[in-house]
Amino acid sequence: MADFDVIVIGGGPGGYVCAIRCAQLGLKTACVEGRGALGGTCLNVGCIPSKALLNATHHLHEVHENFEKMGLMGAKVKVDWAKMQDYKQDVINGNTKGIEFLFKKNKVTYLQGWGSIPAAGQVKVGDEVHSAKAIVIATGSEPASLPGIEIDEDTVVTSTGALSLPKVPKSMVVIGAGVIGLEMGSVYARLGAEVTVVEYLDAITPGMDGEIAKSFQKILAKQGIKFVLGAAVQGVTKGKGKNTVAYKLRKDESEHTIDAEVVLVATGRKPYTAGLGLEAIGVEMLPRGQVKTDAHWATSVKGIYAIGDAIIGPMLAHKAEDEGMAVAEVIAGKHGHVNYDVIPGVIYTTPEVASVGKTEEVLKQEGRAYKVGKFSFMGNGRAKAVFQADGFVKLIVDAGTDRILGCHIIGPGAGDMIHEICVAMEFGASAQDVALTCHAHPTYSEAVREAALACGDGAIHA
Ligand code: NAI
Repeated sequence: MADFDVIVIGGGPGGYVCAIRCAQLGLKTACVEGRGALGGTCLNVGCIPSKALLNATHHLHEVHENFEKMGLMGAKVKVDWAKMQDYKQDVINGNTKGIEFLFKKNKVTYLQGWGSIPAAGQVKVGDEVHSAKAIVIATGSEPASLPGIEIDEDTVVTSTGALSLPKVPKSMVVIGAGVIGLEMGSVYARLGAEVTVVEYLDAITPGMDGEIAKSFQKILAKQGIKFVLGAAVQGVTKGKGKNTVAYKLRKDESEHTIDAEVVLVATGRKPYTAGLGLEAIGVEMLPRGQVKTDAHWATSVKGIYAIGDAIIGPMLAHKAEDEGMAVAEVIAGKHGHVNYDVIPGVIYTTPEVASVGKTEEVLKQEGRAYKVGKFSFMGNGRAKAVFQADGFVKLIVDAGTDRILGCHIIGPGAGDMIHEICVAMEFGASAQDVALTCHAHPTYSEAVREAALACGDGAIHA
């Protein structure tokens, strides 16, 4: 008799969701976590703390930029960085404790410590070895740095250090114009730091719809963030009170440097599987360090599964959660499924940026005939009222059938609005289906409907 039906290694969004679903399906389940708190990178040093800082600094920005316009005079707001950090920590604690509560409620055993797999069917935590019929690897990812850069999490930091800097720096260079770089760059720019983003490619946010990326860069530049694009960072040299970032412009190979008090390295993340002992038990890996799985998240060793950032695919908490639920169903003998074509991506800056499905660039490559319906928030009364009319909704549909293929939004509430289109896509809806659905007025969501109308006979307010 095994001690458990399932042991999940890793208590992040993939792992804890998987453990809860396993328990709900009647499986005796344990979840192993070594960091002393549940919730993984997302809750402890990622999504949640960054959203706390984005929220606080968004309000600060509103005070500085928009209060007087609304007749709110004389507001003097001082930043108490220590207090902002306490607020962030309270948000983290509330969320991680919430998961402990959910574990108790669902009777998931929480095994505290770092887990390893000495043999198939066994998980070692500290000195104890527990047996399980199934093991799920949900160990997530860690920041990937660049050669020539020594991270000290003090003045040369990853996202982890950037969330807990001892003080607001006067200047910051962000290496990489991806999601982390732009979210954290926004936080510090709003706090008054001079922020420069250095990016290897010629556009920000690789993979995002080109038009949205261009508009996003313009809006961020208006907020004071500087960009150096097409620049390959060569290394960072630490000096007295400053760091020097050396980069080469790709167009002419010319070499440049830029100084900053703090350097944030945000050049991607890599799977974290160190210490699990996967090699010794013969778990096959992919060349980029991910655990190799089949379509049902099974690894090459029977009874061992893997999900989330540790396997292939976008490194997103919600993708890991979906895989966690689906693999639980598979282990319980049901039919777990993840629709990888409908996974939204959101950047929580102001304005927010959200997308799902295909971009125009990808459809062009595929040679597929498509139509685009666009609607600017300039025509949305609600967005105008909150000074966020800069963005737009772009809906992409099949030219022949009107079926929705993708949606890209830059504007207020984009991260919530995108789900209307996710549901529509799951139901195989056409733009006309969305256009014929009544949308409450005045909401930002009306812009989605208008973009759907623009795929047909035309938007009303454009
Ligand atoms: P990323 O992959 O989004 O962006 C990294 C950027 O660094 C790329 O634009 C790349 O071209 C650039 N880069 C690489 N080498 C460079 C060099 N030598 N010089 C200059 N630029 C260079 O990675 P990021 O932002 O670190 O995020 C990591 C992961 O975390 C991503 O998968 C992201 O989706 C996820 N994440 C998601 C969030 C969200 O959903 N809101 C928030 C934070 C992270």
